Amino acid sequence: MSVRKIAQRYDNRAEMLVQVLVALVQQNGWISEDDIRELADALNLSRADVHGVVEYYHDFRTEPPGSHIVKLCRAEACQAMGGRELAAHAEEVAGGDTTLEAVYCLGNCACAPAVMIDGKTYGRVDAERLDALLASLAEAAS
Ligand code: FES
Repeated sequence: MSVRKIAQRYDNRAEMLVQVLVALVQQNGWISEDDIRELADALNLSRADVHGVVEYYHDFRTEPPGSHIVKLCRAEACQAMGGRELAAHAEEVAGGDTTLEAVYCLGNCACAPAVMIDGKTYGRVDAERLDALLASLAEAAS
């Protein structure tokens, strides 16, 4: 569905910008510069207005996501249990088809550090376990 059609579903109301962006990300996985331009026209907003909202929310990606989404918890309980080191390791080993995202609590604090891979949560993840999880993604794809 085009950006204009999504905006029409919300009666082209500027106050529905966040909902339109959510629908767009659900459909396409990300928001392009062209989407922002079209959306600004459709909702009678400036591109800066739309950009401001897109940049404010973490879930509004401005680049196409990889085939796998790995969310690494960066909140306190996970940081205290090695989350920072795990995130640094993930940056080193994640392949180009994997999108890494920082999140702030996955509700799995008792099993910190926690990660979510393609919607499934894992606890007590160290570098070795993360490597195994990423390897299983690669195996599943081949
Ligand atoms: S702080 Fe990481 S899951 Fe809650």
